[in-house]
Amino acid sequence: MDTREKLDAFQKRIDNDEKIEPKDWMPDRYRKQLIRMMSQHAHSEIVGMLPEGNWITRAPSLERKLVLLAKVQDEAGHGLYLYSSTETLGARRQELVEDYIYGTAKYSSIFNYPTLTYADICVIGWLVDGAAIVNQTMLAKSSYGPYARANIRICREESFHKKQGYEMLAKMAAGTPEQRRMAQDAVNRWWWPTLMMFGPPDDESPNSAELIRWKVKTKTNDELRQSYVDQMVMEAEAIGIKLPDPELKYNNNTGHWDFGEIPWDEFWNVIKGNGPMNRERIKARRKAYEEGAWVREAAMEYARKKQLREEKAS
Ligand code: 3HC
Repeated sequence: MDTREKLDAFQKRIDNDEKIEPKDWMPDRYRKQLIRMMSQHAHSEIVGMLPEGNWITRAPSLERKLVLLAKVQDEAGHGLYLYSSTETLGARRQELVEDYIYGTAKYSSIFNYPTLTYADICVIGWLVDGAAIVNQTMLAKSSYGPYARANIRICREESFHKKQGYEMLAKMAAGTPEQRRMAQDAVNRWWWPTLMMFGPPDDESPNSAELIRWKVKTKTNDELRQSYVDQMVMEAEAIGIKLPDPELKYNNNTGHWDFGEIPWDEFWNVIKGNGPMNRERIKARRKAYEEGAWVREAAMEYARKKQLREEKAS
């Protein structure tokens, strides 16, 4: 088959909702787009451990410490599934990692904001993991098999994360005046950045059209953002939390909640590296990477020797 025929056959498989597997033929551009997106997702899971890890020792009880520790460990696991699935496309993990800690590869804007009080941890669970679920439930149906399967597992765990965040926030929102103030303050600071997690508006999203044609994404950034807002309005109301948007209003014509203008200048500024915590996050990741060099070397040497032993024995 020539390239045109291969491309047509590939698109036909996508249109028939077949999964593309690592050894199947795929256009270079499909591979490149997946490596970009999946590795950004993996980096986000790993950087996402930092704002929460910061609170493990200060969580208010042993039970809360255990839950937070388990959540942060889950995020490390998500990063590992995602790096492994990106490797099925021929990418090298070390290069991917070095491309964001020393280079220009992106990770989610949301992790460049500080966690000022313990209420931020509740709100990350509810709003940030809630946004991740909306996005990743869609990605669990992605056309690339290993990515879809990684997201199925991730969503199950994120669902527990969201519930624990919501439960803690509900307790705070029904607590003392000081607890209620902390809960509302955290929601005020995190609401707009969580809407930015879904990416720029559709008419400013250079990758969406291609990703949708290949069913890597099956919904646009704006469609996902709208379903998130619709869901969160109800959940906020149920626990007596106010979302900080005076323009939130139910629209009888569309059946959705209209919302105010997202501060897009802030979003572009954060993804260019100028958010409140970008420098600190990268500094922490570099330190961990450099201090962990001996662990990687020892693991590689162990694997090399094990392989030699197995070859000798067979
Ligand atoms: N943060 C940082 N960069 C973002 C971004 C965000 N919130 N949203 C978009 N961008 C970047 C894109 O990566 C792209 O940059 P690039 O072309 O240089 O790579 C540029 O802005 C234009 O955006 P597009 O809309 O064209 O990009 P996409 O079509 O790829 O859509 C996306 C962006 C919706 C983030 C999509 O890539 C996606 O769904 N990614 C996989 C999921 C993911 O990465 N989630 C991150 C959160 S992880 C998480 O939630 C952890 C959990 O524990 C809470």
